[in-house]
Amino acid sequence: MTNQGLRRATKNDRWVSFLSRPLELSFIRWMSTFGPVVRIPFIGILVSDGNILRSVLMDTQNFSKTAPGGTSDLWDPILRGPGLLNMSGVDHLELKRKLTPLFNGKVLDEMVGDTIRRSARQLADQLSSGEKVDVVSHIELMAARVVCTLSGYDIAETEERELLLQLDRARGLLRFVKLTRKQMLPHEVKTAISELESIHLRISEAYERNQVATIPYLLKQHGFSKDEVTSIITALIIAGTETVISHLPRFIQLLVTGRVIESGEAKDLDLDELVQEGLRVTVPTPVMLRGVVSPATIGKVSVKPGDRILLATTLACRRAGGFDPMRPMPKVLRNLWFGAGVHLCIGMPLAQLEILEVTKELINRFSGKKFTIIESKIRKGTLTAGYSKLVIQCRPS
Ligand code: HEM
Repeated sequence: MTNQGLRRATKNDRWVSFLSRPLELSFIRWMSTFGPVVRIPFIGILVSDGNILRSVLMDTQNFSKTAPGGTSDLWDPILRGPGLLNMSGVDHLELKRKLTPLFNGKVLDEMVGDTIRRSARQLADQLSSGEKVDVVSHIELMAARVVCTLSGYDIAETEERELLLQLDRARGLLRFVKLTRKQMLPHEVKTAISELESIHLRISEAYERNQVATIPYLLKQHGFSKDEVTSIITALIIAGTETVISHLPRFIQLLVTGRVIESGEAKDLDLDELVQEGLRVTVPTPVMLRGVVSPATIGKVSVKPGDRILLATTLACRRAGGFDPMRPMPKVLRNLWFGAGVHLCIGMPLAQLEILEVTKELINRFSGKKFTIIESKIRKGTLTAGYSKLVIQCRPS
């Protein structure tokens, strides 16, 4: 690991983030220079300090996802039922309490662990042959396998093309989300629902046919109706697909350009800490939104119902500096990229499993070996920043 390499890796990733939404992100970054909490006319109240941001997330009396300005209106017409993303209060807590034990590391490992490990091994196998490998297409295929497994597909029996088609449709839903949007238009809702048709059909089949080892069946066993299962899984797909696809190639860029694998030092690092540091730098969900339930203050700014609160996790995490796997994580930022409080990401164990398995495979098999980035193409105009192509090659040292 070299300081120069780590700096370059950070710079590359900041560029990826910038290109995803150049105007919006530059604007909020500029506004954040006026203070940790800033009112932006017609947009909302921007919070960019980690401590204040966390305190808003923990304060469910005054701030909510379902109050006007929150995200619930955005997702409600697509979920058409309880799906965490569109809920708050007692109903949300009740559902979260039931779902959290079902999405713990052990259950997920049983459901998708082998699929994830197989995908990570395939990536490493191809790299070890010295080929030029597009990391993005590998991660997309892994995400497609995970999404389809969650929805009840038998992925051993399903062609790769079909898995990738379903992935494409699922991730396409995020194209309707913009920082300035509070609701989807009726024709967008119609398009989104029709794009989810095959996945919904598969969920329904797995539910009705009692297909064991599928999430629809697991949820059925815990007393959820078919409509509830469909809403819950749709929410998991919306929230969980693009985030991992955004993060993993960016994380691999950080590891390669920062010479983390090549230096051989990564073998001595705590891999969980390394994964955390990668997420702190990339922050796949750059902004969280809340509405205001009752008049309150955030920092020195008074807010009232109708205001929209933009919690800019990406800016808060940036304040701790560039990518540096040796630096201890500031306590206030720990897991902030997964949110905090009652809405803490329920997919965190799944995301960590995917990231950790890929990281383990790369570090265990390639420690001390030299990687080069051969080609990269950055996605533009998306809420979650990322690459559409990242070709790397492992060269004999
Ligand atoms: C690196 C990957 C991921 C990141 C950075 C991430 C980030 C987040 C964040 C920041 C929140 C909280 C949003 C808020 O409070 O407004 C959240 C919630 C959520 N995430 Fe994730 N997520 C990731 C992966 C996943 C995965 C893999 C799934 C599911 C398979 C998932 C499902 C959800 C759901 C359903 C919620 C709503 C939870 C609630 O409201 O109680 N996420 N995620």
